[in-house]
Amino acid sequence: MATNITWHPGLTHTERAALRRQPGLTVWLTGLSASGKSTIATALEQHLLHNNLAAYRLDGDNIRFGLNKDLAFSPADRAENIRRIAEVAKLFADSATVAIAAFISPYAADRKLARELHESAGLVFVEVHVDVPIDVAEERDPKGLYKKAKAGIIKDFTGVSPDAPYEVPVNPEVYIDTSKESVEEAVAKIVRYLADKGILK
Ligand code: PPS
Repeated sequence: MATNITWHPGLTHTERAALRRQPGLTVWLTGLSASGKSTIATALEQHLLHNNLAAYRLDGDNIRFGLNKDLAFSPADRAENIRRIAEVAKLFADSATVAIAAFISPYAADRKLARELHESAGLVFVEVHVDVPIDVAEERDPKGLYKKAKAGIIKDFTGVSPDAPYEVPVNPEVYIDTSKESVEEAVAKIVRYLADKGILK
């Protein structure tokens, strides 16, 4: 814990958003492995960039190659993973960028902390539950991880191991079922939500 530190005030996020003519916010995608989070996040980032909005995707696998390479998948490590990402997403949102975070983020308490970090700073946090029936995720299994988990090679795999549950979001701002909705429909649904709420024009 650092001591003797002082917060230096500067531009507020509202001032930055006015100067850059775009709001900053975080769109947080949560869901099982192979639910489609990364695919939707990538398509959403492209959509926003094509519409002249600064956006940046933060993705579970990718972040674990660098910033969070010291973390594994115990509940404590997942909590620290989500805490760090929430702080990073908040910095992007503060800079008048749309941060798009795609993490399994299986624990409700960790997602709550991510939301509180944003909302206590006056920043918009939009939770998107990217849902899929687990049997569909297992059929997709693009990285062969469900197969390894079922074979006992991965011990703490979300949704398969009793030690690694996925706590379903109770009241997400946006709900998507990727066994029924296409990537384009998912992006349109998120963008429509942001427009309906007056968050993005
Ligand atoms: S978490 O739970 O939010 O901290 O996970 P996240 O940072 O999103 O990382 C998930 C990706 O890590 C790979 N992987 C695992 N996922 C879940 N459980 C275990 N044990 C595990 N081991 C490796 C996997 O590729 C996840 O990516 P997605 O895109 O979700 O499939």
